[in-house]
Amino acid sequence: MTIRSILIHPDPRLKKEAEPITEVTDAVRLQANDMLATMYDAPGIGLAAPQIGVLNRMIVMDCVKEDGEAARPMVLMNPEVIGISEELNTYEEGCLSIPEQYADVERPSEVDVRWLGLDGALHEEHFTGLWATCVQHEIDHLNGKLFIDYLRPLKRQMITRKMQKLKREKARA
Ligand code: NI
Repeated sequence: MTIRSILIHPDPRLKKEAEPITEVTDAVRLQANDMLATMYDAPGIGLAAPQIGVLNRMIVMDCVKEDGEAARPMVLMNPEVIGISEELNTYEEGCLSIPEQYADVERPSEVDVRWLGLDGALHEEHFTGLWATCVQHEIDHLNGKLFIDYLRPLKRQMITRKMQKLKREKARA
């Protein structure tokens, strides 16, 4: 298992549409393990393949936050939202590719998602609460969309400038 480095916005690879995964190969399983390890190491509750520079449609997540509750690592390939609630929910979102920046984003509060699992089968699940927000945020990544794209342009530009500065500082270090 390898901890991969996470791309920081702005990066052209974070703006691209990712390609579907057609077969569950050893390379795909390895990628899933690396992504989970990278997510837990960060630490974060979700990670999408483009964030490690891999342009395929894989996301991983684990939104279990309670101490003492069992972890629930999930690997979703080619995830598709097949139903959304009318009711909306606002969460203060963050992103491992936009460190230490948080903003309120409004999304459907519940979603039905279908995906290809590592077992090669199609799965469907109804997500609520933090899971619903997280899965929508991660699927956005596969379509080149970041949570800051929901913000007003001025706020988005402010965050982007902070990230550019952060990247310059990291490059010098
Ligand atoms: Ni993100």
